[in-house]
Amino acid sequence: MDKRKRILTGDRPTGKMHLGHYVGSLKNRVRLQDEYECFFLVADLHMLTTRPQKEHIHALRENVREMLLDYLAVGIDPSRSTIYLQSAIHAVYEMNLFFEMLVTLPRVARLPSIKDMARAARLDEEAIPFGLVGYPILQAADILTPRAHLVPVGKDNLAHVEVTREIVRRFNSYYGEVFPIPDALIGEVPVLVGSDGQAKMSKSLDNAIFLSDDAQTVKKKVRGMFTDPNRIRADIPGRVEGNPVFVYHDAFNPDEAEVADLKSRYREGTVGDVEVKEKLSRALNDFLDPIRERRAQFEADSGYVEKVLYEGTQRVQVVADETLKEMKKAMGLTGVWNRISRKARDRMRRDERKESGS
Ligand code: TRP
Repeated sequence: MDKRKRILTGDRPTGKMHLGHYVGSLKNRVRLQDEYECFFLVADLHMLTTRPQKEHIHALRENVREMLLDYLAVGIDPSRSTIYLQSAIHAVYEMNLFFEMLVTLPRVARLPSIKDMARAARLDEEAIPFGLVGYPILQAADILTPRAHLVPVGKDNLAHVEVTREIVRRFNSYYGEVFPIPDALIGEVPVLVGSDGQAKMSKSLDNAIFLSDDAQTVKKKVRGMFTDPNRIRADIPGRVEGNPVFVYHDAFNPDEAEVADLKSRYREGTVGDVEVKEKLSRALNDFLDPIRERRAQFEADSGYVEKVLYEGTQRVQVVADETLKEMKKAMGLTGVWNRISRKARDRMRRDERKESGS
């Protein structure tokens, strides 16, 4: 038996992953793979909360594959970690329903994240599906599937882990200690700014640098990056704090001396944006090169990605059934059904005997 504590986290399969995913959560996952027993899910049911149509489901084939390639490319290792497809875990749908009874509607309805997701999906308040309000509860079902202790996520998911913690407290106090209270783990850079200076890097905001972007694309995106808007000439002192190019330098350029030098010259007004950006492109491409290389290898290996997901999912089906069984037992639901079945079978046996006239 594996004695390590467990990690669970994952992402909605909406396509390729970007640098924000990396610093927010992927980096922690790769780092903690040996210390924890890790479960990473492809949250396709969560995707349905804002994208329920056939065309979205159809796009899953490609999007799940892209996401898996990103996972593998950054160093999530399927021989050490379990990667699985959420919608193939039957127990999750049941767990979700039980947990829905332990959360009030206003608790989830007022979460800013729900409104943010609705806005990103271009839904106004009236059009928010019931299932989107239930998003954090379904997320609790995921976290509690392997009874995880730790949840590495970006800052926008913190409130959802908090909902999970409340659910666990309530569940355990009603029915007994079945689940540990999970902790969230935020990345070094909790939210990465977009290349356009918007608060958050996001595919839907069209300000993302993807892990799979080629070197030319990265150069082009960096050249177009937002810097200090007040610095209209290179000889004007500029602002480093919160300036996206420097946020990215801090996050991805391992040459600390170079970054320190660029910053001080920027503050003095003795370095141009062009040089700062060129050095950033180089740092980003150095960081992305090995990721691209591994991605290409996995991509060329036909059926490999599918095999990884298939084996991981089969494994989690067993883990999840076990958890569900213990939940129902603790709740007393197993007892209700067992008693009904026992009495029913006794009665049926008696009926049979009567019928055969003995
Ligand atoms: N909410 C996550 C996202 O923003 C995806 C997710 C679903 C998740 N279930 C989870 C994250 C469980 C951590 C734990 O894409």
